[in-house]
Amino acid sequence: MPRETLIVSDLAALSRAGADEFSRCAREAIAAHGSFSVALSGGSTPQGAHALIAQEQLPWDKIHIFFGDDRHVPPTDKESNYRAANESLISKIPIPPQNVHRIHTELNATVAADQYEAELKKFFQGHSTTDGWPRFDLIMLGMGPDGHTASLFPGTAALNEKSRWVAANWVEKLNTWRITFTFPVINYAAEVLFLVAGEEKAEVLKDVFEGKPGKYPCQNVQPINGRLLWIVDKIVAKLL
Ligand code: 6PG
Repeated sequence: MPRETLIVSDLAALSRAGADEFSRCAREAIAAHGSFSVALSGGSTPQGAHALIAQEQLPWDKIHIFFGDDRHVPPTDKESNYRAANESLISKIPIPPQNVHRIHTELNATVAADQYEAELKKFFQGHSTTDGWPRFDLIMLGMGPDGHTASLFPGTAALNEKSRWVAANWVEKLNTWRITFTFPVINYAAEVLFLVAGEEKAEVLKDVFEGKPGKYPCQNVQPINGRLLWIVDKIVAKLL
């Protein structure tokens, strides 16, 4: 399906639009098949949306929260995507603990990736799959200034992973391991939602949208049978 782009005025409007899309997807999935599987992205951009989602009246017992990636740090570390999401959303909603699927980033990176992949495979035994791949109802993503998404950074091994669902990915430029969904998992989702803001990303966003394909990792996000929605603010979209 073609990319859809929604340009909003600022970060507050982006957070509102992101929260509204999350709630719409949740209600639609629960009405359609009784549950909602969503993977959150890390970084700072989605935190405002998380805070607004936390105010939504949703059937949280039917919702399962996953993480598209995380840093290889303990869950209490200030760098942890789990910690950020817990502070902005998870700690504020009545979601059953067993419905929050954290990547165990305190473990060896490869062990954490293997364990998370096993947890996904167990969950998706009872939920929708296509061609043997998980069909998340929604995967939220951000984009870095280098065009990375999740922890799929330029020049890293996980970019080429075609069979694993979750990979431990060494990121040389950050001198650290990351644990990340792979592109097939992202591309088999029913909907992928990018939330992108910030002037420092305007050049890359223009190149991602209008430049040569295959140059940036986030250009490889092309849902096979799902919706691709980019919600961006006016500043980051100024060159489009
Ligand atoms: C992470 C993210 C990453 C993030 C982008 C954008 O773990 O950092 O998953 O892909 O979405 O780096 O981050 P900002 O929203 O902070 O710019």
